[in-house]
Amino acid sequence: MKFDKPATQNPIDRLQVIGQPHDRIDGPRKTTGTAPYAYERHDVVKNQAYGVVLGAAIAKGRITRIDTQAALAAPGVISVVTYQNAGKVGKAKAITAHLLAGPEVEHFDQAVAIVVADSFEKARSASKLIQVDYQSSPGQFDLAAQKDSAAKPDMGKDQPDTAVGDFEGAFANASVKVDQTYTTPDQSHSAMEPFASIASWEGDKLTLWTSNQMIAWARRDLAEVFGLPKENFHVISSFVGGGFGSKLWIRSDAVMAAVAARAAGRPVKVALARPQIVNNTTHRPATIQRIRIGAGQDGKITAIAHESWSGDLKGGQPETAAMQTRQLYAGANRMTSHRLATLDLPEGNAMRAPGEAPGLMALEIAMDELAEALKMDPVALRIANDTQVDPEKPERPFSHRDLVGCLRTGAQRFGWERRIAEPGRQRDGRWLVGMGMASAFRGNLTMKSGAHVAIDRRGTVTVSTDMTDIGTGSYTVIAQTAAEMLGVPLEQVQVRLGDSAYPVSSGSGGQWGGNSSTAGVYAACMALRGAIARKAGFDIDDTLFEAGKVLSQGRAISLGDIAGNAGIAAEDSIEFGDLDKQYAQATFGAHFAEVGVDAATGEVRVRRMSGAFASGRILNPKTARSQVIGAMTMGLGAALMEEAIVDKRHGYFVNHDLAEYHVPVHADMPVQDVFFMDEVDDKSSPMKAKGIGELGLCGSAAAIANAVYNACGVRVRHYPLTLDKLI
Ligand code: MOS
Repeated sequence: MKFDKPATQNPIDRLQVIGQPHDRIDGPRKTTGTAPYAYERHDVVKNQAYGVVLGAAIAKGRITRIDTQAALAAPGVISVVTYQNAGKVGKAKAITAHLLAGPEVEHFDQAVAIVVADSFEKARSASKLIQVDYQSSPGQFDLAAQKDSAAKPDMGKDQPDTAVGDFEGAFANASVKVDQTYTTPDQSHSAMEPFASIASWEGDKLTLWTSNQMIAWARRDLAEVFGLPKENFHVISSFVGGGFGSKLWIRSDAVMAAVAARAAGRPVKVALARPQIVNNTTHRPATIQRIRIGAGQDGKITAIAHESWSGDLKGGQPETAAMQTRQLYAGANRMTSHRLATLDLPEGNAMRAPGEAPGLMALEIAMDELAEALKMDPVALRIANDTQVDPEKPERPFSHRDLVGCLRTGAQRFGWERRIAEPGRQRDGRWLVGMGMASAFRGNLTMKSGAHVAIDRRGTVTVSTDMTDIGTGSYTVIAQTAAEMLGVPLEQVQVRLGDSAYPVSSGSGGQWGGNSSTAGVYAACMALRGAIARKAGFDIDDTLFEAGKVLSQGRAISLGDIAGNAGIAAEDSIEFGDLDKQYAQATFGAHFAEVGVDAATGEVRVRRMSGAFASGRILNPKTARSQVIGAMTMGLGAALMEEAIVDKRHGYFVNHDLAEYHVPVHADMPVQDVFFMDEVDDKSSPMKAKGIGELGLCGSAAAIANAVYNACGVRVRHYPLTLDKLI
């Protein structure tokens, strides 16, 4: 089904199941430990051996010698695989570094060997007996030092630079200006489930149980790495314990398990140890961002520029931190740019709202600074600069944009009117108390997505698609979609996900998964409704699907009877036309935070977080809220804690475990208030929904940073806002 016209009246609009706050249908399996994650597939894979990956001890250089004799002689060891005996292991185009090093080493902790043994402990012990000699070469590890050598990156379909009007002239003439540089650090995804895979070969066909967000990409990348047709790879990822972008592409656990299983002649399971993950896999790259905004005394922006610098391995990608500045605020004269430096740190890649998350951390402090310079309320400043058209392409309206509604509603729910604009004026015992806010903005991407929907003799509906549920609620919203479309109770729908045997879906990434994958299920259900009506001899335009029956002209037949012993099924996909080119599509919100800053120690505690969000139809307010509070929690982490610290001599992230890479825990989290604006976006998909998964992270860190300033009057422009920066 092609989605190239705004959605009209459709079966989803009944909102009997869609839009309801159903509990997760996979919840009981997860909370009883019966949802099988990749490493746990004892049930389906017999004769598993254990693989332990050894990582490179240098950041850049060559392996000059590997001695595996002692490891091979250790108890229980079955095989040891390095680049010397792995057979053909190529590089996937979408992945920047090789997933097996040798003889070149491209980054610290890049996999150099895997030891296979009959127990995990024996494999781990033997891995320490491998002797690797290196010849290291000098690398570049410091973004600030490499900033001037940064070049214009290839950003695929996006331009690295944009310019409209005369920024420099307008900025020079602006009556009120901000010109500041902000930095965001490297960050680590820190998903709860580690990278884990079980690989099992039959001839040249591989079955891989793994933890992955994008099944079809995994298959494509495995095909490239092993030089075999993608049909030879069966990828299964039924449950994923968090991805946050780190599992958009396969990582070394998958490739090393596969090479190890080939060498051992039996299935091999691999989980990367927590301390390996930060340097072996990927991270969010650090940024340096210069923002200049000029405005008139009325607060209207006349000039806005956002320049961002980040680094990556050669051939890698920039962090696209200036993207939202192209669309968020009005202003006739504007420019954005991205520059990419070559760094020899581990691969930088997508993490938790790449682009907007770090971009808004900078932009929304700059807006706070502009509001202060103008002596204007920060909410009013943002309202004054709203736009209903793409500011870079004024002929292109937003499909739906209610930033102003979010700002007003959010301010009211939070009690923003109680804020004292002058910093340091509100005190609660030892705490200096402050309030801050920020806009939320995240692009609304859509991706082609397919599904197969079948009904059996008992009237049970089974949906199959290679969509993943990375903790987001995909199982549930997909079941809700099928239940709504086919007029059956939710309990009558079974959902099978995360298997390359099923139709290719959007997968989970960039907050496109919920809207796109349910739209694919919608398309398949539309096809199935047609097939059912034809089989019943009904006119589809005069047919209702309700209470497990199909009804027309006073006749009613149960879906089970229509299905009969053979069953009835249909498959289709949603393909998005060019509505997203005719209309700027994005999601919006407003974040508010109240913090306490200890007047003596500088310790920051967040006391309240509140947000209002406009993101099209909310398919399930409960799972959507869970997404948003999780994202707001990540915003708190980004504001106050999260920083992967670079050892600039040796080129690795020092704090590579959860003891030293800090993320918020329950005790750090305040009450979180989440409000969804009542809206539909008929130009985003037939579901009239949009992405919601990442929006809650976009802007939330800046709201906290602005609240810290309001509390104590110290303007910190370098994240995270640790107490040493406040005292
Ligand atoms: Mo998201 S960082 O695109 O999984």
